[in-house]
Amino acid sequence: MHIIKAVGKMQDLSSGIRAKGHRIGFVPTMGALHDGHLALLRRCRRDNEVCVLSIFVNPLQFGPNEDYRAYPRRQKQDVSLAKKENVDIIFCPSAGAMYPTASLTSIHVRRLSELLCGRFRPGHFEGVATVVAKLLNAVNPHVLYLGQKDAQQCCVIRQMIQDLNFSVNVKTVATVREKDGLAMSSRNSYLSPAERKKAAFLFRALKAARREIRSGERRADKIIKLIRGIIHKKTSGRIDYVSCVDAQTLAPQQIIKGKTLIALAVHIGRARLIDNIIVVS
Ligand code: PAJ
Repeated sequence: MHIIKAVGKMQDLSSGIRAKGHRIGFVPTMGALHDGHLALLRRCRRDNEVCVLSIFVNPLQFGPNEDYRAYPRRQKQDVSLAKKENVDIIFCPSAGAMYPTASLTSIHVRRLSELLCGRFRPGHFEGVATVVAKLLNAVNPHVLYLGQKDAQQCCVIRQMIQDLNFSVNVKTVATVREKDGLAMSSRNSYLSPAERKKAAFLFRALKAARREIRSGERRADKIIKLIRGIIHKKTSGRIDYVSCVDAQTLAPQQIIKGKTLIALAVHIGRARLIDNIIVVS
């Protein structure tokens, strides 16, 4: 397994692999790998000759009062997990290598970046779009693997790829959950045992909403009220938003119709947790 830190070296390695006609799959992460990340790596491993993992805690996507410094960093453990999954290349640049002080360019995917999480995390998706563009230019993969857990991130990145003519296919992988339904996240490690138990109610609230839609409810405000009620009663968490939106355009729906993304963000203790489901009606 190669561990590459320099952008130029990664580009050279990638060119060499492409010259042999091999297919490169790419899984970008911020490390502290868990089973959600591993599901992406396994898909990538299965479907490509070469599997590239990036580990980079991207300062650009954290707000000034967010958890950039506290974000878990577990390089050694991540490397051994990557080895077990037969990853071929880990690309782990330093912040200085990714963002030389002279750099002046960033990528803003309008509208999609302002909705949902974007309302509460100004600049976040600009940071995500910029780093993913830079990572794609370094790795130059044929296929990019993203997790459905970050549904808005998937929309923003797909749009950027289309708008800027990146030549890469995007595959989305289903959310991996703990036994009690909590979506796996590197940030779950911030939860105390009591908070961890409460956090399971986020997915339970989404499932209750899905049941209600299946039994005929179509009014989004009723669905949102149901979810908010469960979260309020069971978690005492602070809700950023609970929204029903079109799964492709992220446009809010008053009436549940077609492919609906039901998405939420809730602060429980120190952790800001997000989750979503897609309901087809
Ligand atoms: P990170 O949170 O480390 O996630 C890396 C990838 O793993 C993302 O595509 C994310 O959606 C996916 N993922 C995380 N938890 C998952 C789960 N429980 N089930 C399935 N997939 C899951 O997302 C980022 O990093 C960054 O924003 C990044 C894209 C790397 C840009 O910095």
